Amino acid sequence: MKNLKWKLLLLLLLAVFASGCSGQGEKPKDERFYEDDVTSEREDHIVVGFAQIGSESDYRIANSASFRETFCEKNGYYLLFEDGQQKQENQIKAVRNFILQEVDYIVLDPIVETGWDEVLQEAKSAGIPVILSDRSVTVEDEGLYTCWVGSDFEEEGRMAGLWLENYLQAEGRDEEEIHLVTLQGTPGSSAQIGRTAGFSEILQRHGNWNMLEYASGDFTQSKGQEVMTQFLKSYPDIDVVISENDNMTFGAIEAIEEAGKTCGPAGEIIIISFDAASEASFTAMKEGKLHADVECNPFLAPKVDEIIKRLERGETVEKIQYVEEQCFDAFMDLDTVMEERKY
Ligand code: AHR
Repeated sequence: MKNLKWKLLLLLLLAVFASGCSGQGEKPKDERFYEDDVTSEREDHIVVGFAQIGSESDYRIANSASFRETFCEKNGYYLLFEDGQQKQENQIKAVRNFILQEVDYIVLDPIVETGWDEVLQEAKSAGIPVILSDRSVTVEDEGLYTCWVGSDFEEEGRMAGLWLENYLQAEGRDEEEIHLVTLQGTPGSSAQIGRTAGFSEILQRHGNWNMLEYASGDFTQSKGQEVMTQFLKSYPDIDVVISENDNMTFGAIEAIEEAGKTCGPAGEIIIISFDAASEASFTAMKEGKLHADVECNPFLAPKVDEIIKRLERGETVEKIQYVEEQCFDAFMDLDTVMEERKY
């Protein structure tokens, strides 16, 4: 009996150590939000509440992993991670619960840009700094959040447009009538708004580029496939697909192949995608099924960590902080690119 007690204690200790840097702070939802005792673990650490969007894409999975790895106990943090399951109301509820929990910082990745004024005002009144990460918000008072770190989505859209401009020119197709369709991301999200706007800047320079339709695939593979299937039924002569993320692109490639067509440098339809955040996107380029992929860097947590450290030292931080990104295409030496990539 005595022996059993020690074994149980040992197992408990091992479980605590094994939790290490990933998944710490992961308690059952109800226990986390409604417990009123502040545990000693929390007292010794900077408590960060992260309201994540969901798990709709490879980008998102990598982004969540980045937060779990960075905001761990060994780095001095206690992370409360909430998955909004692609619903703004869940994210608002999560932020309110973080306020109730009196966290030190709130990190918010807002699914859409509007509808945040009230809850951000509540955080401000509670004296909790809010750091926006990845997507941004449109609010009446910019003072409702401390800063934002993420991608320049408009520049990403421009990069895609410029890539197409150069490619068509190199192919001698710059005077040809070009038919395009766009698979858009979640309507009203910064990534959708920015990429659509940036690409359309280049589109407007070309009278011969005819955008047949914009439709949302909600950044998911299944919706991307569904929408692309519809596009192919409605328009027999698509030359270019602009797909606002990789997972929709993977769905679109399936739809194109199911319709008996081909895409990528080895096929008929030109596809340009966004993210380049997983091996699968590089594989698609290497297999000749995808022309180009504009990077969207998911590893934002180290930047947020840096911001929090500066705020802890009482320093001011820049309001808007972009991460650097580039465009990859099927004609590069992608094996070397992947080897040299920091992530
Ligand atoms: O906000 C970034 C976008 O959101 C990524 O492009 C997409 O994959 C994700 O779902």
